[in-house]
Amino acid sequence: MINVENFGIHEGISEVIFTTISPEGVPNAAPMGLHRKGKKLFARIYNSKTLDNILSKPALAANIADDPVLFVQSALSDLEPERFEIVEGFLILKDALGWILFNCRCKEGGKISVVELYPVKGKIINKKLQPINRGFNAVIEASIHATRYVVMKEQKQLNCIRYYNTIVKKCGGEREKEAMRLLMDLLKIKPA
Ligand SMILES: Cc1cc2nc3c(=O)[nH]c(=O)nc-3n(C[C@H](O)[C@H](O)[C@H](O)COP(=O)(O)O)c2cc1C
Repeated sequence: MINVENFGIHEGISEVIFTTISPEGVPNAAPMGLHRKGKKLFARIYNSKTLDNILSKPALAANIADDPVLFVQSALSDLEPERFEIVEGFLILKDALGWILFNCRCKEGGKISVVELYPVKGKIINKKLQPINRGFNAVIEASIHATRYVVMKEQKQLNCIRYYNTIVKKCGGEREKEAMRLLMDLLKIKPA
């Protein structure tokens, strides 16, 4: 049994990238919150390709990643198949800093389903020190608003994305700025 604490999965919600596979064998990646409440691990997932894939094959990998561009790409577009790898029948991302493989038990809901997660195996590939960067955090916040904008198309999400972009400009590095440019391109919106 693996101890998720060693993977930096603490109480609360950790933003990771779930990788799953469709019945036709198509790989999928999407950022999702990995919830931890005491010993319980679960995700709350809206209707999506990730949920469909879990319902057909109740297994996923939680990829721990620190690349802001990867978060935006996996949130708003399809990753190329060559960015995935198969480990013990599970799909993982080659660019992950580490991953945890989970078996899932899905409690289907109308709008949102709760997916209980049972760790099978994990691997730490790169354990680097990561001082907090507000630019990186702002890309994550903007990406969440971007996925809501795709569905709801509301002005308030655009306002949030533009606000977080001002933080990326001030605090982010080149990779965070590239992530925001990609986000705006994929949503077909302008910075201001
Ligand atoms: C940082 C981050 C966290 C997210 N967390 C969740 C989540 O916990 N549950 C969920 O249903 N969607 C979440 N989303 C939105 C999904 O990633 C998004 O809807 C995605 O397009 C789903 O892709 P899929 O259809 O390929 O599964 C999150 C997005 C981001 C950027």
